[in-house]
Amino acid sequence: MPDAAAAPRIVVGVAGGIAAYKAVSLVRELVRVGADVTVVPTESALKFVGRPTWEAVSRNKVSDDLFDDVATVRHVALGRSADAIVIAPVTAHTIASLAAGLAGNLLGTTVLASSAPLVLAPAMHTEMWEHPSVRANMATLIARGATVVGPETGELTGGDVGAGRMSEPEAIAEVVQSLLVPQTLVGQRVVVSAGGTREPIDPVRFIGNRSSGEMGVQLARAARARGAEVTLVAANLEVPPPTGVTLVDAPTAAAMREAMQEAATTSDLVIMAAAVADWVAAEPTQEKLKKTELGETFSPLLHRAPDILGELGASKPAGQLVVGFSAETAVDSDQRETLAREKLRAKNVDVMCVNQVSDQLGFGNVETIVTMIHHASPQSRSVTGSKHSVAGQILDALLDR
Ligand code: CTP
Repeated sequence: MPDAAAAPRIVVGVAGGIAAYKAVSLVRELVRVGADVTVVPTESALKFVGRPTWEAVSRNKVSDDLFDDVATVRHVALGRSADAIVIAPVTAHTIASLAAGLAGNLLGTTVLASSAPLVLAPAMHTEMWEHPSVRANMATLIARGATVVGPETGELTGGDVGAGRMSEPEAIAEVVQSLLVPQTLVGQRVVVSAGGTREPIDPVRFIGNRSSGEMGVQLARAARARGAEVTLVAANLEVPPPTGVTLVDAPTAAAMREAMQEAATTSDLVIMAAAVADWVAAEPTQEKLKKTELGETFSPLLHRAPDILGELGASKPAGQLVVGFSAETAVDSDQRETLAREKLRAKNVDVMCVNQVSDQLGFGNVETIVTMIHHASPQSRSVTGSKHSVAGQILDALLDR
């Protein structure tokens, strides 16, 4: 998404299908990432989900009626001001109306009055989806530039199984977002690590950290939205990964080292956003440790974990950009920058992103400030906002270089 200052305006059209209830999550997700969303349900969509729900989740007035607000020429204004229109679910009936260019309801006029990208997320029974008239209407809409998400194969209403299930709201939201950001990373391969490693002490206990994985996940999502081919190396994520990326599970420092080294050999941009353990248990036991045997104090022998970023920095091929994250508890920003600059030099990375953490600060989906330090410049640059917004700003700043 573009920066929060210019919230993109998105029209979410909802046609009359049971999947309308899933569109509630789509609207919530688009609002969450900073979009100004107006929902335009068809009359039959309102039989599935009512106006108050749409108004509550979109935080905007909802109308399906062409004759509401005639003085503001609403049927044209909505379409003209939209940065994108997504119709989810789009039914066989609405697909036919769109293909024919019908203007019998507010959704039809909005689409006709708009030159913004149109995203369609169909949902219907398999027989309908495969019917030649639906196929022909879809071909017409695709030829006019519509982007189609799904439908997926799965369980349909009434217990049938087949093609026709609406794609998940997150997947639709990601397609919409990718239409709103410039495709600056097409052809680039990006690997991002995210989350916090957990180092086993015995089969049930581990040494871990408080990283939720939010920052790394948002970076992977932002890179994907800009057209990159993305690998997300994930350690114990507490947040859902984005769709459209290759997900590699790496729960421990050792697994992450292997996954990152492999992915880095073919990547143009390497981002280490994961919180990796600095020490791992020298000899994790196969059996559960017993209090009765250990007594009142217990100090497991810990060994230094590999410094993955340091290794990647030391062996980076020409042209590859390596980015690290430095979570610092120092309250003074100059001191944080000094510490981060030392890490940048020691690990031979190109850019270090510094943020302040404490037990109250920095973890999860919260507002954040990240200062970017470049190896080639004494100047730093700070970006601020939600982690979603900060991730996009970091990628755009890297591209400025
Ligand atoms: N990092 C890594 N491997 C480790 C530890 C850290 O690759 N074993 C990476 C992190 O992913 C991050 C950067 O190094 O990108 C800095 O991590 P941070 O924990 O701030 O620094 P450390 O080098 O671990 O130093 P310290 O904990 O002493 O501050």
